[in-house]
Amino acid sequence: MNNQKHSVLKRCFHWINVPSLAIMAWSGILIYWAHQAYVILPKILVDKLNLHHRLAEGMGWHFLVMWIFALNGLGYCLYLILSGDWRNIFPRKKDFQELLPFVLHDLKILKTGPDLREIYNPAQKMAYTSAILMGAGLILTGAAIFKPVQLGWLTSLLGGYEAARLEHFILLVAIFLFFIVHILQVMRSGWNNFRAMVVGHEIEKE
Ligand code: HEM
Repeated sequence: MNNQKHSVLKRCFHWINVPSLAIMAWSGILIYWAHQAYVILPKILVDKLNLHHRLAEGMGWHFLVMWIFALNGLGYCLYLILSGDWRNIFPRKKDFQELLPFVLHDLKILKTGPDLREIYNPAQKMAYTSAILMGAGLILTGAAIFKPVQLGWLTSLLGGYEAARLEHFILLVAIFLFFIVHILQVMRSGWNNFRAMVVGHEIEKE
């Protein structure tokens, strides 16, 4: 039996994130390593990864793909609001109460866990909401260091140019950590769960 789990729109928004974030990360590394102060990688690795003298190329890709990432994120947020899907993602009071028993049960420390009937468990809701906030934060801190004069109010709001730069860096480490945990959890949940994010539905036995 087939049941629609993820709509076409949601899957499009989701999968556009993957190449766009990958290009943002790669071009970000090219920009980052162009600055002498940050050259902390061993020379041999920098040579192997061909990171030298590619600042213009890195900036070109970063400032092009940021539009795709930002517009896609904005589209996804609008979709969540208009479709009412935000109810599946944003944690409510009971999710905070159920988080610890859920995690302890997941780690097999507690025999019984909370009775979950929704599409996402409390930990997923918190992780997905954080990913949305981190994406928004990356765009805002990125905009503050991209146009510190035109968007001076945003740069000062974020604590100044250097602070916005540090925040941009911290957020990118955080979203990378989310990505690693997300992939591990997807692998743990199995093919059927992954398939639903590709074709929309899980395959259930009659
Ligand atoms: C190869 C990379 C990725 C794979 C295989 C993957 C896979 C999945 C799967 C299978 C789900 C559904 C989970 C479920 O139904 O239990 C999901 C949901 C989600 N993923 Fe990913 N994902 C990837 C990359 C990303 C990236 C880069 C982001 C954003 C930074 C992201 C953010 C999300 C969010 C926010 C949801 C919840 C979507 C919703 O219901 O509206 N994913 N992912």
